[in-house]
Amino acid sequence: MFIAKTFSDQGSYFLQNLENYRQAVIKKEISLAALFRSFSLQDEFFDQLLGIDTKTIRQSALTKTTHQDAVDSISSGYLFIGKLINFLKPYKHLKFVDVGCGTGQVLCAMQADGFGHLIGVEPNSNAISIAKKNVVKNLLKDPLTKVDFFEGDILDFNLNLGNIFYLYWPFQSETSVDFLSKLRISHSRLPREIFLIIYGQIRDEVKNYFDFLSYHSTLDHFVVFSTKELRN
Ligand SMILES: C[S@@+](CC[C@H](N)C(=O)[O-])C[C@H]1O[C@@H](n2cnc3c(N)ncnc32)[C@H](O)[C@@H]1O
Repeated sequence: MFIAKTFSDQGSYFLQNLENYRQAVIKKEISLAALFRSFSLQDEFFDQLLGIDTKTIRQSALTKTTHQDAVDSISSGYLFIGKLINFLKPYKHLKFVDVGCGTGQVLCAMQADGFGHLIGVEPNSNAISIAKKNVVKNLLKDPLTKVDFFEGDILDFNLNLGNIFYLYWPFQSETSVDFLSKLRISHSRLPREIFLIIYGQIRDEVKNYFDFLSYHSTLDHFVVFSTKELRN
């Protein structure tokens, strides 16, 4: 068992053993989630493990959304993603939508962990083009995982296609309200298991739109809601 004295110890140890860790994940000797949680490293190190690049992308005039309330493409961070993967383990068969996938850090990690069907929705053309390249470059990708992309606003996406909606602070209240109204309609037309995993505090103006969902649990700074189908 490796015990690091300092951050730089951990970093250099990890880089020296990068290929061994990659092989250990491929052979399923260690899970990716466990690896993400066993080193307190900057995300760049795990990017190297996956062979991808998930840098921050700022919004520009190219980001076209109904409401101009898009947040920059900042990645979730592998430490949290390790917890998310563990949490979603029983639901790997459900369709996972990363609402605002940015450069694809979450998608690539879940692709490496063998989730069934992932969908990245992203209106920032710079971010989504990197995300698309990343899922191809991903050195640990499971060939059985299907990954689709929709370039555009979540308000223009067919929500019937998803079960698990992951929102790491993609936008502000205006889009959140419209998104939740559409999700409610989607659920009433096509009743199914839905998870909503949403970051941060839910503002008052958004709370009214949650009536078709129930509180499920919390996961670090995220609140998880689900439909009744999931709990019965
Ligand atoms: C904070 S980043 C999260 C990136 C990624 N989900 C992750 O967790 O690593 C939020 C992303 O949401 C995207 N976004 C903003 N408005 C959006 C909208 N209306 N529909 C879909 N995505 C949106 C932004 O462009 C940005 O890339």
